[in-house]
Amino acid sequence: MNFLGSHILSINQFDTQDVEALFSVADQMKPYAHRELKTRVLEGAILGSLFFEPSTRTRISFGCAFNLLGGQVRETTGIKTSALAKGESLYDTARVISGYSDIIAMRHPMDGSVDEFSKASRVPVINAGDGSAEHPSQALLDLYTIKKELNINNDFDGLNIALVGDLKYGRTVHSLCKLLKLYKNISFTLVSPNELKMPKEIVDDLLAAGHRVNETEDMETALHDKHLVYLTRIQEERFSSQEEANIYRGRFRLNQSIYTAHCQPNTVIMHPLPRDSRAEANELDSDLNQHPSLAIFRQTDNGVLIRMALFALTLGVEKDIERTSSKVGWYTDRRF
Ligand code: CP
Repeated sequence: MNFLGSHILSINQFDTQDVEALFSVADQMKPYAHRELKTRVLEGAILGSLFFEPSTRTRISFGCAFNLLGGQVRETTGIKTSALAKGESLYDTARVISGYSDIIAMRHPMDGSVDEFSKASRVPVINAGDGSAEHPSQALLDLYTIKKELNINNDFDGLNIALVGDLKYGRTVHSLCKLLKLYKNISFTLVSPNELKMPKEIVDDLLAAGHRVNETEDMETALHDKHLVYLTRIQEERFSSQEEANIYRGRFRLNQSIYTAHCQPNTVIMHPLPRDSRAEANELDSDLNQHPSLAIFRQTDNGVLIRMALFALTLGVEKDIERTSSKVGWYTDRRF
């Protein structure tokens, strides 16, 4: 893919060389993300941040990433507080906002909506999650996290992983499967209620690419021998009623005692977040919060690096960052 000026809508746009190029730029972003260095490479540029569905980390990390590159962010959140609530079309919204911005990150509850929006946009659009379809920047930060946690040098062949939870509506696992499909000989154990299985076309694509797929409702057996377990929340906002979602919430839970009994000592624990911490759901227990293999907050930190790299490559400034950088005057090592 030629990143420059491209919309980033789906993982289907990527090949392994694109991923490697992105990860290499992400690695260079560390001193900026840690606020040891600053760069003004995107000074004067504006990110249009349109989140028509709730978000904490994707919205804030896209904004932080753009600010850290020296750009500014203008945003709207929620459909009710935007002109979409007055019947404005995605076409008109795209024409307007792309006149105000140099690049747009957009989330919307409808599958395919970001793709539709991008067709009317005059600037690159990054899909920050469209319904239950895709969340490409999440998959990229997830794979980057896998690389760092397992100390892998861009060769993800032979991974043995479990994906657990709502695999029907969870867009993060859809995009992650499409990304892992690019590698070889991966063993996927897909743990979900029978009614919330991974869409058949994604499973068929994995099998056609030569990967192994085992679908099960038995989480404890599935945890054995895994390099990593990736948990997901029941996506209650996609169900027709809260009562229907409640049937599945809390069906699969990972906690310290289950981890100790069934996982390898170093099995990496991932979750795109938010996790549902309410007692009746609680798919990833806080009693694992201090576990060294719990990677969830390293995942969220990595999100800034990946989103900085996406902006740098899409706007064509990746080679100018170092030239425009300087030390942050007030920097002290605030990380604890
Ligand atoms: N992982 C993720 O998309 O989180 P938010 O919904 O908080 O953006």
